[in-house]
Amino acid sequence: MRIDVVTIFPEYLAPLRAALLGKAIERGLIGVHVHDLREWTHDVHRAVDDSPYGGGPGMVMKPQVWGEALDEVCGPERIAAEGRPPRLVVPTPAGRPFTQRLAREYAEEEWLVFACGRYEGIDERVVTDAARRMPVDEVSIGDYVLVGGEAAVLVIVEAVVRLLPGVLGNPASAAEDSFSDGLLEGPCYTRPEQWRGLAVPEVLRSGNHAAIARWRRDRALERTFHRRPDLLAALPDEALDRHDRAV
Ligand code: ADE
Repeated sequence: MRIDVVTIFPEYLAPLRAALLGKAIERGLIGVHVHDLREWTHDVHRAVDDSPYGGGPGMVMKPQVWGEALDEVCGPERIAAEGRPPRLVVPTPAGRPFTQRLAREYAEEEWLVFACGRYEGIDERVVTDAARRMPVDEVSIGDYVLVGGEAAVLVIVEAVVRLLPGVLGNPASAAEDSFSDGLLEGPCYTRPEQWRGLAVPEVLRSGNHAAIARWRRDRALERTFHRRPDLLAALPDEALDRHDRAV
């Protein structure tokens, strides 16, 4: 998978080269290209923003700079070289929610381009214009406002890359995650059996695999009920059996 990120703070994206993501780069599973948006400015101040039409606080990122940047990073020539257009992801608190489902969708893509906005946002015409050539998603990582899209890109890329084949040591980790069956994951334990007067639940030490699976499912259901009733409500009818409903 090829990943391009356009930002005015390239150094903010350094963690893309650390830990799990760094390993994925070393092993050739992903290629990461971070671009400084200011490379596409032409004035001495290297300005990327201007005041908003209609008035109001804050500044808006200029369409000319973004237009030239995206033309070079994912314009017609680059698209011809790659054989197909990328999916352009624009993080914004006004976007559609980023979920595990969207992470799985992105993990199927060969090429993702991220456009990081700062200030009040990017001139709306940048997205409208890009959408003439490629699919564009405006995406939010949660109902809170960050200073810019960079931290959101780190979140999204990590969630996507761990799903790529060969990235996680044990592929079952991704398959059994929270959200994979629509529920939160329940608690987990390791040695020692007793710690500060707290014991590992007996059933997990029983060796009875059916009982362990039932216990895990029950705890997942309980936890989801208490912490995220919205997730339970969204499950299709057939997702819960008679045992589940009794928990
Ligand atoms: N930029 C600022 N806030 C954001 C959010 N919640 N999600 C994605 N991008 C953002």
